[in-house]
Amino acid sequence: MEFNTKVAAPEDVKADCLAVGIFEDQGMSPGARRIDRASGGAVRAAMASGDMKGKRGSVVVLRALPGVAAARVVLVGLGPAAELSDKGFAEAVAAAIRGCGAGVATLAFAAGEWKVAGRGAAAGARALVAAARATAFRSDELKSKATRGEAPSLRRQRITLVSPKRDAALEQGLREGVAIANGVDLAKRLGNLPGNVCTPEFLGAEARKLAREWRLKVQVMDRRQIEALGMGSFLSVTNGSVQPPRLIVLRYEGAGRGGFADPIALVGKGITFDSGGISIKPGAAMDEMKYDMCGAASVLGTLRAIAELKPRINVVGVIPSCENLPSGSATKPGDIVTSMSGQTIEVLNTDAEGRLILCDALTYVQRFKPAAIVDIATLTGACVVALGNVHSGLFTPDDALAGELLAAGRSSGDSAWRMPVDDDYQEQLKSNFADMANIGLPGNAGAVTAACFLARYVKDQHWAHLDIAGTAWRSGAAKGATGRPVPLLTEFVLKRAA
Ligand code: BES
Ligand code: MN
Ligand code: ZN
Repeated sequence: MEFNTKVAAPEDVKADCLAVGIFEDQGMSPGARRIDRASGGAVRAAMASGDMKGKRGSVVVLRALPGVAAARVVLVGLGPAAELSDKGFAEAVAAAIRGCGAGVATLAFAAGEWKVAGRGAAAGARALVAAARATAFRSDELKSKATRGEAPSLRRQRITLVSPKRDAALEQGLREGVAIANGVDLAKRLGNLPGNVCTPEFLGAEARKLAREWRLKVQVMDRRQIEALGMGSFLSVTNGSVQPPRLIVLRYEGAGRGGFADPIALVGKGITFDSGGISIKPGAAMDEMKYDMCGAASVLGTLRAIAELKPRINVVGVIPSCENLPSGSATKPGDIVTSMSGQTIEVLNTDAEGRLILCDALTYVQRFKPAAIVDIATLTGACVVALGNVHSGLFTPDDALAGELLAAGRSSGDSAWRMPVDDDYQEQLKSNFADMANIGLPGNAGAVTAACFLARYVKDQHWAHLDIAGTAWRSGAAKGATGRPVPLLTEFVLKRAA
């Protein structure tokens, strides 16, 4: 999809289709009113007939209206004006795109009315790009051509935002929207790829490709280099797998002033398949554990978006990546491993592997003296129980950092909800034989004790942990990666740079 802006009256825009909004309570939007006037009452007639009542997501297509340059006008129900949430907005945009048909090569939106309630033009443009790109996205690279459907033609569409006068905020919103959508689509693509394709080596190659295309610094370390760093906890997870592990480090240098000072550090869990290991998972829906690298994918997606937008800030991404499988050489329950920090860990459950790879990555990333560290992980089923598929879980003892991340989530339509990490939960991680156990009590604040485990590796750092187990992908008929939390992370970095 291509996006651009145009200064024109809606009735003068030459396009295959023009989308204008109808509110359930206030009736015609300003754009719809202009089309109505130009066409001698065509919109009024559609509303009077009862065909269009403004119900969110409903559409009516009008063709060849007199006085209107666009070949078609799609009237799109926006629901009540005051309530246009991120989700409702995305539904309406998707309805407009589907309503006018995949055959439409150019689709124009009258910009003024296409915005989320209570937000400005820039946020409206961002949300429109996000919704449009989501409508066109498919993971179809492993399908044969004949079964790819309408998506390829949607991806060729040109979408124009029409406004009465030049609007710099609209243009900036569009630019940010496209960059974020590029990051989201990368995260979705990698997330949806199966474990036999998206291996740790594959992620390393993708990181190299990203670095080449966007002039990032990259280092992809192999088992020997990971051993040399002393990452005994990370390596214990990969013992049962024949796929070699990778430690990926990507750097975006935008701050200038020489050197690589005070970066924002993003650390992403990159388990390319999580069978549970010897503590093996039940079979039902185990395929979804290919998504256990969505934290890693969100780091790559965010760096993609940042590299395109070029904010004045430094960012480092660190991705520990391996498989978690059972075999004769796999780590066993009760095994004790030594992390890079020197702390020892009793692995009571090999399925609590995310924290075992992240703790070493968190130790490693501190060599960059980061201004803030955010780790992103599909870490616990318990977080899904707590927050479902709506908010990502945010864990940090740092109130200021929490405020920034929560605000970034709200304004990017990619929300997080704060959860506790206080020391009162730490006693659950006591071990009789090592410095700590890798699990707490069964059925007892599992998302919190996982965060508390990580907290032991980031003393005196500005650190936050995002548990995206419930938000990184959706199950069922609409199964697929969501690309979250790329919008939240990108917004966080942009705000820090501003
Ligand atoms: N990758 C899983 C977490 C997960 C499970 C995410 C289900 C989404 C859906 C993680 O590695 C894991 O297995 N966690 C265990 C921890 C437990 C053994 C303490 C869990 O949540 O059951
Ligand atoms: Mn696991
Ligand atoms: Zn896992």
